[in-house]
Amino acid sequence: KSSADETPPESYSDLVISTLPRRGGWAKPLVLYRNYWLNPGRLEHIIPVKERFKPRRDDIILATYPKCGTTWLKALAFTVTTRGRHALAGHPLLAGRHPHLEVPTPAGDLDGIERMPSPRLLATHLPLSLLPPVVAASGCRVVYLCRQPKDAFVSWWHFANQMRRKGSPPIKLDDALSMYCEGFSPFGPFWEHHLEYWKEKSARPEQVLFLKYEEIASDPVEVVRTLAGFFAVPFTEEEERRGVPEEVVRLCSFEMLSGLEHNKGGDVARGDSIVVGRSMFFRKGKVGDWENHMAKEMAEKLDDVVEDKLKGSGLVF
Ligand code: A3P
Repeated sequence: KSSADETPPESYSDLVISTLPRRGGWAKPLVLYRNYWLNPGRLEHIIPVKERFKPRRDDIILATYPKCGTTWLKALAFTVTTRGRHALAGHPLLAGRHPHLEVPTPAGDLDGIERMPSPRLLATHLPLSLLPPVVAASGCRVVYLCRQPKDAFVSWWHFANQMRRKGSPPIKLDDALSMYCEGFSPFGPFWEHHLEYWKEKSARPEQVLFLKYEEIASDPVEVVRTLAGFFAVPFTEEEERRGVPEEVVRLCSFEMLSGLEHNKGGDVARGDSIVVGRSMFFRKGKVGDWENHMAKEMAEKLDDVVEDKLKGSGLVF
């Protein structure tokens, strides 16, 4: 055999990825695939989701735009749906991780997800158009979470700066804002991402729950009740009397989650050379932190984009 015979063939996804528009500016370059800017290191896991992920009727998909409170929603949904199985004290949430459809962790690749027992709680940052069309037909439930874009942007800017390679210059807030406003951010344009799920919510209100970070922050107990109802496991009168919804909120609070040993140290593998520290998912957890970073003109610039892109949709921030 010649050595040429032993060269592994380029995979289909490698071929696709190399032909896609590529742009740098964030911690890593992104490629444009089906109108969304994605991490090329993840694409080989993203592309198969549409064909190979088989949604089940009792799946719960937690879909979020990055930095909109994914960690929080995952904790709340997990605690609400497993409360019959786990006492809240010493809850496994305090150690658990939840599979992401597009993240190649041992539990989170598509084969691992296929092997999971029902009911599955699955997270994703993928836009609806990159999920299989059968998601709608399967009847599975989707919770979508977004956030006031100025706060999501500031949160992302901090995150991206922490993620950048050692020695590379910090990403300036101004430059970051321009990229974000152009729709050039991971899983962006953010407005398209929001609008896809917003329209789906209008089409299938029983199966799609559309939430904002600010709503959870302003009345977390009510949102926990809404989630329980949406997941068809409403709190009983007895649970209400015992203050279970309040206890779920406390267990999933920023202070509680960020104080957990396993969230303070350790890394989340990202399937490429970038390694993300778990503590990076907990920064401030506040509504309106953008005011501490963005000048008035910057805020107006992003507000204008949001207004223009969401015009007529009924979605407002
Ligand atoms: P900030 O950077 O504004 O603090 P994601 O989980 O989608 O990556 O979002 C991260 C954002 O959610 C960060 O926002 C983080 O601090 C905040 N967050 C994480 N856990 C939270 C919690 N339990 N309650 C409220 N906010 C939380």
